[in-house]
Amino acid sequence: MTAEADARAVAAFVAECAGRVGGDIERQLGKHRDGELAKAVLYAGTGEGKRIRPAIIYATAQAAGLDFSRVDGVACAVELIHCYSLIHDDLPAMDDDDLRRGKPACHKVFGEALAILAGDAMQALAFERIACDAHLGAAQKVETMRILAATSGLSGMACGQALDIRAAGSQPDIAHLEHIHRLKTGTLMSACVTMTLACAGGAPDAVQSGLRAWAADIGLCFQIRDDILDVENETAALGKPRGSDRRQHKPTYISVLGAERARRELEQLGARCLAQLENAGGGCAMLRGITRCIAGQGL
Ligand code: IPE
Ligand code: IPE
Ligand code: MG
Ligand code: MG
Ligand code: MG
Repeated sequence: MTAEADARAVAAFVAECAGRVGGDIERQLGKHRDGELAKAVLYAGTGEGKRIRPAIIYATAQAAGLDFSRVDGVACAVELIHCYSLIHDDLPAMDDDDLRRGKPACHKVFGEALAILAGDAMQALAFERIACDAHLGAAQKVETMRILAATSGLSGMACGQALDIRAAGSQPDIAHLEHIHRLKTGTLMSACVTMTLACAGGAPDAVQSGLRAWAADIGLCFQIRDDILDVENETAALGKPRGSDRRQHKPTYISVLGAERARRELEQLGARCLAQLENAGGGCAMLRGITRCIAGQGL
């Protein structure tokens, strides 16, 4: 496949997954739609997000031979956690950004208090979505919720966000920056794979270990790319303010390594992720395409 055809196939797949998870989120919110808080949740949970995490979940399901209906719950839950993290990330106490997904950030429309509460509510809703899923057994629900809690909380995304805030104004070495990036972005992305495998039960060991190795690095790749785009892309294309990292004096792969080395790092990590998929069997075409988009031409 040419690179363009590859990117088109990935874009179509991601759009299909986005439709699936978008509908699911709306259905969850439909149950609780009255009131100002529910409006804030609906505002932040719907709209123009790339929905890359659900796409990774469905592509992993494909690789593991699992019906999509089995992972709808975890796809919706991970996206809800991600949306909550974005609401809080934009608050004045954090990155103080006014624009998200091409529209005013949640706190600009609803105020800070309601934005904080909307994030809290989305986090709770994520766990409720899995608990009430019709396609998973009790043990799978417990295990996927355990993974989601571990990767989004004290040893995952929230911890990474705390380190990210603390690092503002400093110039850490690359090992520490990598640690922050893996925690704030990598852990939740790796959960997309590990939660899917927890739903799959008996995928062959070789497939599982290849996918787990891929999952360990793809989130770092994604965050390096995000650092690069913050400098290179325009606000209109990003749907969020360009130059946010610099304004907040955040250390990034660009500020620590320089643009050229940051790009090389992304390329090398992308190649390593592709190599991991070689070990994960023949069903990984979409994960390969997603990897190339993340490490190369973007999504
Ligand atoms: C933004 O994530 C935050 C990072 C972890 C870099 P995305 O780039 O996936 O944001 P949306 O969901 O497409 O808006
Ligand atoms: C955010 O990283 C990671 C999260 C856990 C939300 P960034 O602060 O770089 O994300 P953007 O650039 O605002 O989307
Ligand atoms: Mg941030
Ligand atoms: Mg930010
Ligand atoms: Mg960023």
